[in-house]
Amino acid sequence: MNTNIVVAIDGYSSCGKSTIAKAIAKELHFIYVDSGAMYRAVALYFLRNNIDLSNEKQVAEALKNIHLNFNSRDYETHITLNDEEVSEEIRQMPVSEKVSTVAAIHAVRVEMVKQQQRMGKSKNIVMDGRDIGTAVFPDAQVKFFMTADPKIRAERRHKELLPKNPEITLEEVFENLAHRDYQDTTRKESPLVRADDAIILDNTDLTQKEQLLFALSRIEPFLNQ
Ligand code: CDP
Repeated sequence: MNTNIVVAIDGYSSCGKSTIAKAIAKELHFIYVDSGAMYRAVALYFLRNNIDLSNEKQVAEALKNIHLNFNSRDYETHITLNDEEVSEEIRQMPVSEKVSTVAAIHAVRVEMVKQQQRMGKSKNIVMDGRDIGTAVFPDAQVKFFMTADPKIRAERRHKELLPKNPEITLEEVFENLAHRDYQDTTRKESPLVRADDAIILDNTDLTQKEQLLFALSRIEPFLNQ
């Protein structure tokens, strides 16, 4: 029987999950899914429509009106929210400040996890997020749990954001990452935690090439089974 391969990558905010996930997908011709982009797009919709997060009925109604799609023309994240490309906007601070609160809502998680599981049903896939190896694909063949020095993570994200946000400070970015990590690890529903069988990957001192080779060496045994 041919089963599809799932690679689950979880870890803290901005520790390079998507960089390595994209590189693996490109190398092995797997589908790449950025689950964080889905929560970010939901947060953007809630922000734009002033959804009251404590109002379950309003949240449920809003979720029915949200249609997300990934356009996989390359190995970058191109996500549409109701047919509008929002890939740039979801990375900006207003969304980053709201997303972890939105992602802690039960109804939001149920809907996103359902969609994510559908995407990984029959295709070889690399998905990164916070609960991929624990809740979305607990049976994934390969799981990584990524981490890196918080200061290095903030510096990397600050550098990414600067071209479009020349005003943004390193402190602001550092605070946002720390706050999201706190919210993500302490929430009731599917908190960020290492799955028992996840391989720890600390990339503080690794080059992108080194971490990719390490990851590939762990995936290769499953390729020709
Ligand atoms: O890119 P970065 O690591 O900063 O974050 P992201 O992967 O875009 O995820 C944004 C936020 O979505 C996280 O801080 C979590 O609150 C939430 N998230 C989640 O709850 N579960 C996932 N599987 C992915 C993201």
